[in-house]
Amino acid sequence: MSNDLFRRKPLAELRADAEGSLLRRTLGPVQLTALGIGSIIGTGIFVLVGTAASLHAGPALVLSMIMTAVACAFSGLCYAELAAMIPVAGSAYTYAFATIGEFAAWIIGWDLILEYALSSATVAVGWSGYFSSFLRNFGLSIPPTLSAAPGVAVKLADGSVVHGVFNLPATMIVLAVALLLIRGIKESATANTILVGIKVLVLIVFVVACAKFVRHDNLTPFIPPNEGTFGAFGFSGVMRATGIMFFAYIGFDAVSTAAQECKNPQRDLPIGILASLAICTVLYIAVALVLMGIVPYKQLNVPDPLAVGVDATGLTWLSPFVKISALFGLFSTMLVQLLGQTRIFMAMSRDGLLPPLFGRVHPRFRTPHVSTILTGCVVALAAGLTPISVLGELVSMGTLLAFVLVCVGIIALRKSDPDAPRPFRTPWMPWVPVIGALACIAQMLSLPLATWIRLIVWLLIGFAMYFGYARRRSRYATQA
Ligand code: ALA
Repeated sequence: MSNDLFRRKPLAELRADAEGSLLRRTLGPVQLTALGIGSIIGTGIFVLVGTAASLHAGPALVLSMIMTAVACAFSGLCYAELAAMIPVAGSAYTYAFATIGEFAAWIIGWDLILEYALSSATVAVGWSGYFSSFLRNFGLSIPPTLSAAPGVAVKLADGSVVHGVFNLPATMIVLAVALLLIRGIKESATANTILVGIKVLVLIVFVVACAKFVRHDNLTPFIPPNEGTFGAFGFSGVMRATGIMFFAYIGFDAVSTAAQECKNPQRDLPIGILASLAICTVLYIAVALVLMGIVPYKQLNVPDPLAVGVDATGLTWLSPFVKISALFGLFSTMLVQLLGQTRIFMAMSRDGLLPPLFGRVHPRFRTPHVSTILTGCVVALAAGLTPISVLGELVSMGTLLAFVLVCVGIIALRKSDPDAPRPFRTPWMPWVPVIGALACIAQMLSLPLATWIRLIVWLLIGFAMYFGYARRRSRYATQA
């Protein structure tokens, strides 16, 4: 392979890129933990928990959650080392460009589209489920054909089943988020903190209020026996659910991207990552146990499992409360994900790997409007046409691959640049990255073959784009 695939972005240029946004070091461990929790809690616990329990793991979903959290903690510590070394926006894409080289950066940037753009589509589908459920509280309904992707079965109140054609609410909410982003929504720390508070509060209220309705026999057997195929209960089901529930933990890497704004990155980054993971894990386990304790897990393959759980208890006052907070909570998750995607596109466009229009900024709103419109339309279409399980599994797969690359990346960097300043050093080298990478690979292997094929097709398109366009247009093409 020619050397230009490994051309690196000079650190001086990274600093120049960052100059426009000289950020103040104000964040401590508490704010970092809140940031992590805010990005983590979303469709995973509000929606996918139902699918994973009903189709794959049953009550043993709790084991999947613990395994995923441990794998995330190991990869998170590796993320933190890179983020503190290269404290510039742009996530793993930027880290890879400065450390491993352009081609690896391209692959990660291309792969991150699955993590950011596609996960906002996934969250939009989750939002749509709670929206339809919320409308039902007022006797209103969206025609089922217009609230689910093509082919997705929707069960009606009379027990009959119809199939979806297009998920209109999911599409509309993505477009609304994109419009807000174009208008230059300020990430107000206060608004974000309130939304995080609401999300956490509603999960705690759900657990406390519904705990007394838990029936022990709904939780036995704890690991339902395998039904004959890989992933349908038994140990393989627990593993498959681990790959799916990984989606529920995505977002803790947001903590590491705030490295530039930490008062004390060496101490506070790992605290922020590990504390937000630990708090979410405890919360997730409590929610999952109560949910499966009040509704037999086989009945949870629905778009709004927590609402179904509340309805089963007869606590009518809690139902709208859960649904409204799910709507607000999921909205904030989408906002952050779509924002992240357009900023990664901007970074790639600035480096010449994507056309300049992805970096164009609106003269009045000062936001990347063209990129936001394009991304918004594609994500809206994906949200309207794709079932949540397909989206969620592909997001998990793409993000797991990015984490493997990050884990491998820091081992390579310790060898190639042993003396580079590292404000945060991953402990117990090389075991943390090795275990982190292996845990991610194990989760990737547990995902279905169809998801692997989708990932490979996506990467092949990425290779074609790199060799057909990006490699020649790179800002560093002449410097190789
Ligand atoms: N962890 C985020 C969610 O569950 C992506 O929505």
